[in-house]
Amino acid sequence: MKPFRTIIEPFRIKSVEPLRFTHREERVAALSEAGWNVFRLHADDVLIDLLTDSGTGAMSSAQWGALIQGDESYAGSRSFYRFRDVVQDLTGYKHIIPTHQGRAAERILFHTVLSPGQVVPNNNHFDTTRANIEVEEAEARDLVIPEGKVPAALHPFKGNMDLQALEKTLAKEGDRVPLVMVTVTNNSGGGQPVSMENLRGVRALCDRYRKPFFLDACRFAENSYFVKLREPGYGGKTPKEIAKEMFSLADGCTMSAKKDGLANIGGFLAMNDDRWAESCRNLLILTEGFPTYGGLAGYDLEAIARGLEEVVEEPYLRYRLRSTAYLEEKLDAAGVPTIRPAGGHAVYLDARALLPRIPPLSYPGIALANALYVEGGVRGVEIGTVMFGLHPDGSETPAAMDLVRLAIPRRVYTQSHIDYVAEVVLLVAAKKETLRGYRIASAPKVLRHFTATFEPLPA
Ligand code: F0G
Repeated sequence: MKPFRTIIEPFRIKSVEPLRFTHREERVAALSEAGWNVFRLHADDVLIDLLTDSGTGAMSSAQWGALIQGDESYAGSRSFYRFRDVVQDLTGYKHIIPTHQGRAAERILFHTVLSPGQVVPNNNHFDTTRANIEVEEAEARDLVIPEGKVPAALHPFKGNMDLQALEKTLAKEGDRVPLVMVTVTNNSGGGQPVSMENLRGVRALCDRYRKPFFLDACRFAENSYFVKLREPGYGGKTPKEIAKEMFSLADGCTMSAKKDGLANIGGFLAMNDDRWAESCRNLLILTEGFPTYGGLAGYDLEAIARGLEEVVEEPYLRYRLRSTAYLEEKLDAAGVPTIRPAGGHAVYLDARALLPRIPPLSYPGIALANALYVEGGVRGVEIGTVMFGLHPDGSETPAAMDLVRLAIPRRVYTQSHIDYVAEVVLLVAAKKETLRGYRIASAPKVLRHFTATFEPLPA
């Protein structure tokens, strides 16, 4: 029963936050002041903020209502048990360890189980995941399928793990692999989904080589809905049933509740293994907090519990994936190169293809992100050579792709905001010949994209 074509926002708006409009000259001044790095801008100087979908979503009235019910007891808080029950019902894992966000779960897991010289395979590691592995002097190895590295290549599950490459790694590295990870959806590869069939393949290899299998589950609900839409046999299942099946194939997960937890802060580490869980809890107490709050307030645990229930609702997920595809289709129709098909949480512009005259080491992604801000006050983020090109030995090479990600906060912007964003991208694409590359003026040694400053290259 689908009488109407229009997929509407499945909510109405009760509380609004005004946007601040600026002139082009003001934005040039603000960006120059910020060292030509959009991370360094004052957010009040941004009109439409697509820097990230992380922690930037709008909570529902039910979540706001749940906040006042938060139990702030240091130990044994009622809110923890509500949170634990919801996470356990969804994931089926035995140990549920709250953390203040996803990277804290990563740090605790990797510091507990990794030794120097080990290798962690993943489809694509997110930057904090990679950094938390490398800081333990281990290797983060990306094994996404070949289609996942080609922006224009169409494939329904471009986030899939290359199972042959995984098997080779497991056979060759043996005991050097402490666990296998898969990121759903694959953020660094364009927010692309992983199929259930592929996850079953990873499970089978992990069984054969006796390796624990962990999901980086930040966007598990979006991945579940892609499976429903695209994978044979899943059309009749609910997103929650699909999510449960995904989690059941793994032995544990790291999670940032700032994405598909529909919360502004929070995360968790979950697993079945008793010994690992005990070591992780001991480290948690040292740096995050007691195991029933893990660096979060009781009210945060309430907001996440409610968010995890709302995020698997079908009207929400239908709207969510459709609104991202809507932007991608508009840009694609106008000939702007993007990662295709659209990901779940973001549209990724292919800056290298759009700006072939700017070589990767002059950072086409920075050139494009900065132009989007200057022309229209839209803030996206470079995912390319600045983010991934610098190696632990200090050398620099072009990243596999130079992208600009336009991440869409959950339940925040309406269709007219997105229409405006498309107009800004098309304007910038029309004047692409005038864009210039950049050089780095200052940068830290790790995770440089957050704080580096740049200088525009002469015309
Ligand atoms: N894993 C993935 C796949 C992520 O996308 C992120 C965060 C993390 C782990 C870390 O979680 O931020 O809660 O510590 N991604 C955000 C982004 C920051 O903009 O894509 P966190």
